[in-house]
Amino acid sequence: MSAPKKLFIKTYGCQMNVYDSERMAEALGGEGYVETKSADDADMILLNTCHIREKAAEKVYSELGRFKGLKAEKPDLKIGVAGCVAQAEGQEIMRRQPLVDLVVGPQSYHRLPEMEAKARTGEKVLDTDFPEEDKFEKLKNRPKAKRGPTAFLTVQEGCDKFCAFCVVPYTRGAEVSRPADRILREAQDLVERGVREITLLGQNVNAYHGAGPNGDMTLAQLIWELDKVDGLERIRFTTSHPNDMQDDLIEAHGTCAKLMPYLHLPVQAGSDKILKRMNRAHTAESYLRLIERIRAARPDILISGDFIVGFPEETEEDFQATLDLVEEVKYGTAYSFKYSTRPGTPAAERTQVDPQEADDRLQRLQALLTKQQREVQDSMVDRDVTVLFEKAGRFPGQMVGKSDYLHAVHVADCDRAIGDLARVRILSSGANSLAGALIE
Ligand code: SAH
Ligand code: SF4
Ligand code: F3S
Repeated sequence: MSAPKKLFIKTYGCQMNVYDSERMAEALGGEGYVETKSADDADMILLNTCHIREKAAEKVYSELGRFKGLKAEKPDLKIGVAGCVAQAEGQEIMRRQPLVDLVVGPQSYHRLPEMEAKARTGEKVLDTDFPEEDKFEKLKNRPKAKRGPTAFLTVQEGCDKFCAFCVVPYTRGAEVSRPADRILREAQDLVERGVREITLLGQNVNAYHGAGPNGDMTLAQLIWELDKVDGLERIRFTTSHPNDMQDDLIEAHGTCAKLMPYLHLPVQAGSDKILKRMNRAHTAESYLRLIERIRAARPDILISGDFIVGFPEETEEDFQATLDLVEEVKYGTAYSFKYSTRPGTPAAERTQVDPQEADDRLQRLQALLTKQQREVQDSMVDRDVTVLFEKAGRFPGQMVGKSDYLHAVHVADCDRAIGDLARVRILSSGANSLAGALIE
């Protein structure tokens, strides 16, 4: 038997890319590839890329440039670009970087084995179509390997919202939901392989409307079906849009014990003028009322958000409205970004904010968000939480896991195994994590 070929995948961007990279590794596993952690001994390198901001996209070209020497040493090495930059700039990648043998968009991953075979013959291959078939069904080539305690599971992909700054509707295509029975089968399989916590993924996950036995199902209905899976202990989902936060989903946060008290609900900005120009189709007020309703259903829920500062025509007054909204919500975690012009999106044509002004706003927003994040984390001290252990800590006998609220928790003198859940008393709060002790 010949030695297995080695595959090196580097993943950028969001959790959906992490999930997709796993699927690509499995698909190429069927072609005799095993994964390697080093590009140096790879027979194939795949970059799974992100196009969301300019910096993310530029990284791809600089990374590709670094493989020049490697390819000169190893003429059989194949280099592929997958993900959202592949979708957006496929032809251009081939032109700008002759090292690239293969370009594959996010909707064509099931064709990767054929594409790899073609590339092996020396042909350059590009596939950025949006085919009608369910790529995940065709990507079922999975070995039954044991897995860690947490996993992602894509239930919905694409977006029809067309926020004025965002490339996702173009790179991932129209919003599509996977049928519920396939998701449940995949969840069952994950649990059999050791998974205890599943995070349901979608660019607009709460708009989920996949086919079920009695017509289309809502995300809440899907969660209740997953709730019945023995051995699955925790369910999370991301990312949600405020306008798709339906009543049954809000209610499930109060009634479904496996659904974790954590919600990532991006608002982007606090000024109604800016929200309108962003095409977000909600106001600051409607978002705040929504948060109130969610907290009424689950008072201890941790709210997370995304923000963009320096969106075209944002004034100091508009920015103040964002700070005011943040003060009111009190976020447990948040991601904030300086607006990045994306070619082809409506906002790219508008009057841009002075970059230094935008930098200054970003710093002020991040200072406030960091302070809030720390306060929420500190408020966990003296409380009892459930921790799912994910790995051993740096010190002997120490284990690290995540609380229900997704805080990292370090536990000393811990006789539990990876994948165990335990009640833990939180003793102290550090820079990025909590420390606690097992409750006997
Ligand atoms: N589907 C999700 C998130 C998509 S991208 C949602 O609707 O919330 C993740 C985050 O990147 C967005 O929430 C937004 O805050 C940020 N983002 C998207 N496009 C951007 C751009 N052009 N410049 C800066 N940040 C951007
Ligand atoms: Fe992008 Fe808006 Fe869709 Fe989120 S909802 S993926 S920000 S277009
Ligand atoms: Fe980036 Fe594509 Fe995800 S643009 S954030 S990898 S959907």
